[in-house]
Amino acid sequence: MARLQEAWGSRIGVILAVAGSAVGLGNFLRFPGLAAQYGGGAFMIAYFISLLIIGIPICWVEWTLGRYGGRKGFHSTSGIFNALLSKPYAKYLGVIGFVVPVCIYMYYVYIEAWCLGYAMNALIGGLSMEGRDYGAFFTRFTGAAEDGVGLKFGLSDVGVFVLIVYVLNFYFIYRGISKGIETVCKIAMPALIVIALIILVRVLTLGTPDPLKPDQNVIAGLGFMWNPGDIATGLRNPQLWLAAAGQIFFSLSVGFGVIITYASYLRSNDDVVLSGLTASAANEFCEVGLGGLITVPAAFIFLGAAGIVGQGTFGLGFNVLPEVFAHMPGGHLFASAFFLLLFLAAITSSLSMLQPGIAFLEEGLNINRKQSVALLGFVTAIGTLFIWYFSKDLKALDTIDFWVGTVMLFIQATILVIMFGWGLGIERGWSIAHEGAEMRIPEIYKFVIKYVTPAFLLLIFSLFLMQNVFGWNYSFTAPEFKPTGYMKDLLGGDGAEPSFVARLSVGWIAIMVTFSLVLVNIAGKTWERENNRNA
Ligand code: ALA
Repeated sequence: MARLQEAWGSRIGVILAVAGSAVGLGNFLRFPGLAAQYGGGAFMIAYFISLLIIGIPICWVEWTLGRYGGRKGFHSTSGIFNALLSKPYAKYLGVIGFVVPVCIYMYYVYIEAWCLGYAMNALIGGLSMEGRDYGAFFTRFTGAAEDGVGLKFGLSDVGVFVLIVYVLNFYFIYRGISKGIETVCKIAMPALIVIALIILVRVLTLGTPDPLKPDQNVIAGLGFMWNPGDIATGLRNPQLWLAAAGQIFFSLSVGFGVIITYASYLRSNDDVVLSGLTASAANEFCEVGLGGLITVPAAFIFLGAAGIVGQGTFGLGFNVLPEVFAHMPGGHLFASAFFLLLFLAAITSSLSMLQPGIAFLEEGLNINRKQSVALLGFVTAIGTLFIWYFSKDLKALDTIDFWVGTVMLFIQATILVIMFGWGLGIERGWSIAHEGAEMRIPEIYKFVIKYVTPAFLLLIFSLFLMQNVFGWNYSFTAPEFKPTGYMKDLLGGDGAEPSFVARLSVGWIAIMVTFSLVLVNIAGKTWERENNRNA
């Protein structure tokens, strides 16, 4: 069956699409939360080192591998690896390139629905319906109190918004690369930057709103977020490095399998080096320049340090910020604008998570767009329904986020960088990357990509496993291994029973991996037949 050959409509379009994939909830919720938790200075040092030795190089790797694959007619990670290595196992190495974006989509879109619901409820006064107890509204809205209670469809329930965001995502993905994704990103990206700038100006001009609390002012709010603190002690904390590296992955959408797919739709001589750098820079502007200056300083000005400390990512965004906006004149408008901004940031990211799946189904099963959209819609709907139903303490969401959105991201990023440095070969990769390039990647990055990035990834990943899976206390003299949260959820221990929902969630991931392996197997046969026909 002849497939439609798609391509981006313009260079600015592809840059905005990649930036749109990167700029998301990670920029405006996750990043400020982490920076505040670990103390600005030390965290930012680890963050920028991670940006330089894993974020930007792996972006270039993905852009280049994508261009290579696109020229051979492949757009999925499996297809591209298969074309690259011509070994029977190569296509299986790309399987995470399907599992990661598809599984992350399943919960990401659910949070996207919260953002849209909050934007609407902020406008119509729904957020204060629980007597301005925003924590209570969040629990009610998301169904975090009990499994199954989130499946409601009133205006102040999440249900109707899940349906709306599903329809929007699949409508745009059905319209295709240029007419769907590119069009949305060309509108949503500038819109979200304008909204963020308006909110930023509002926050930075708040001064000292309560004269009785002179310490809670703009400068002190910025200081709370950005003062260096004890950098040396901070940098000795492995957890801080894990958080910084994890944030770089999540925020730049590196290791998702998204950039490689997006880059495969480039035209033959499009620039990948400068485009990759521009998209990363746009993400950093939104993350550090906008996200880092809005959320935490705003919360500090009204609620002080006590209002922020101990709030997780969701607590900060969905419980603390509505309280903050309620203190401002015209606060409901700013609150609505802020959640609309989150929604716009989220939809450009969730769309990017669908495209690798669509590309894989199209080229692996030889089906057309309508069929691949229907199949992917069906599979992701089951996953989202699962996460939506098992909403108590957001257990299913949290478990899948950990095993897929963190563990598998590390694995996939490592595979990608090794594929480039060792599979494609540094010299060959370098010359493909520089075709049509308007700038040169510094030569030092040959060494970085081949040795430093994989070594750094393996080191961070080992630390990560040691801490989060085996529960090592990082002591050589008195080592202790205690199962931590996620392992304890699966295996029990320390007097706690295993969590049924955590086990089911991991079971669901296992089903998705198996399903993908079967599809890759079928795809391999399709590609072999095509090869034989063309030989
Ligand atoms: N990169 C996207 C985000 O930051 C997934 O939310």
